[in-house]
Amino acid sequence: MVRKAKAALCREHNKPVVIEEIALDAPKRGEVTVKLGACGVCHSDLSAITGTIALPLPLVLGHEGAGVVEQVGEGVTELAPGDHVIFSFIYMCGKCRFCVAGRPVLCLEQGKALTTPLEGTPRVRDASGAPLGIFSGCGSMAEYATVSAENLIKIDPKIPLDCAALVGCGVTTGVGAVFNTAKVEPGSSVAVFGCGGVGLSAIQGAVIAGARRIIAIDTLAPKLDMAKKFGATDTILFKEDPVKELKKLTGGGPDYAFECVGSGELAATAYRAIRRGGLAVVVGVAKPSDSTSVRTMTLPFEEKTLTGSYFGSCVPRVDFPRMLSLYMAGRLKLEELITRRYSIAEAPQAFADLQAGKNARGVIVF
Ligand SMILES: NC(=O)c1ccc[n+]([C@@H]2O[C@H](COP(=O)([O-])OP(=O)(O)OC[C@H]3O[C@@H](n4cnc5c(N)ncnc54)[C@H](O)[C@@H]3O)[C@@H](O)[C@H]2O)c1
Ligand SMILES: [Zn+2]
Ligand SMILES: [Zn+2]
Repeated sequence: MVRKAKAALCREHNKPVVIEEIALDAPKRGEVTVKLGACGVCHSDLSAITGTIALPLPLVLGHEGAGVVEQVGEGVTELAPGDHVIFSFIYMCGKCRFCVAGRPVLCLEQGKALTTPLEGTPRVRDASGAPLGIFSGCGSMAEYATVSAENLIKIDPKIPLDCAALVGCGVTTGVGAVFNTAKVEPGSSVAVFGCGGVGLSAIQGAVIAGARRIIAIDTLAPKLDMAKKFGATDTILFKEDPVKELKKLTGGGPDYAFECVGSGELAATAYRAIRRGGLAVVVGVAKPSDSTSVRTMTLPFEEKTLTGSYFGSCVPRVDFPRMLSLYMAGRLKLEELITRRYSIAEAPQAFADLQAGKNARGVIVF
C-alpha cells in the first residue's frame, strides 16, 4: 500500500524548505513504516540545506524523530505495529569490526544507506513520481517514514514523543560526547562552545557527570541565559578570543572543551584553551573544505588531545534507554529543551528560527 504524507523537503541549496505531499512505499524485507509523532530541527538538517553536509537533493529532511510503528516488512521480528520508536540516524550492520567492537557509529556499512534504506533503492516519491532521498536513512520530517528496522530503537510508550525525538540526535550527541567520548570525571572543569540543542545537552551531561565548573560560550546572550538554566556555572559572550578568560576562570585551562558549532577555527580555540593533558572534543560538523591547525609542539610537550565525537560515540540500543531513564529520574531535562513546537506547514519558520538562534530546540509535531 502506498501512503501519502506531508513532508519537509530540500530541493535546492540555500532555499527555504518546501512542504510537499510525498508517496511512501510499504516496507520491504527488514523495513518498517513509522507514523511520526515529532521531529526535532537539528543544525545538521540546516547543513543539508546549506550544502555543508553534502547529500544529494532532493531530500526529505529530518533525523531526530520519534513515532509509532505503523507496518513492518517481512523478517522484522523485534518491532510490531503500535510500538513506540526513536529513529537512529546511523545504520548499524551489527557485523563489521566496529559494530562488533561496540562502536556502531563507525559502522563500515554506513555510507551505503545515507539517503535510502540499506537495500539502496528509494521508498519515497514526489507528486510527479520522481524518487526522493531521505536524510541519513531517516527522512523523519514527514508524517510517515519507511526505514530499515536497524534505524529504529523501541522505547517505553510512557515517554512523550516530542521529548523522545530529541534523544534521536541532539541529546545523545551532546550527553554522549561527555559520557562516552570524553568520559568526563567528577570535579573537572568543562568548556562548551555553542549552546544549541547539542551544546546545551553537553552542559547537562557535564552536570550529571559531576563537573565542578561548566563554562558556556556563545555569540548570543540569550543562549547563555539558557545555558545557565541547564547548569552552566559561568558564561562567556564570544566577542574576542575567549582563551585568556577561560584560562583565568579555571586556573590554567579547562580539563575538557567541547566544540558544538562546526568550525575549524573554534576547534583550534577549544584546543588552545584546554590545560596540559586536557581533551578537546569536536562535535560540530564543519564544511568539507574547512580545516584546523594546532601548534604541533604542544602535542608532545603538553600531552593535549584533540578528538571528534560522532553521535556521542553512542550505542543507540544502550544509550537511548540510558538517556530516557535519566529523563524519567528527573536528571536530564528534555521538555525544557523544547523552546517552540511547529506544525509541518511551519517547517520553513522552524528553520528560520534555528538559523537566527532563537531556540534551544524547535520541534515539528505531527
Ligand atoms: N557530531 C555529531 O554527531 C553531531 C550531531 C548533531 C549535530 N551536530 C552538529 O553540532 C553542531 C551544533 O548543532 P545544534 O543543532 O546544537 O546547532 P544550533 O544551531 O542549535 O546551535 C549552535 C550554537 O552555536 C552558536 N555559535 C555560533 N557561532 C559561535 C561561535 N563562534 N562561538 C560560540 N558559539 C557560536 C550559535 O549561536 C548557536 O547557539 C552543528 O554543527 C551540527 O551539525 C553534530
Ligand atoms: Zn557495522
Ligand atoms: Zn542531528
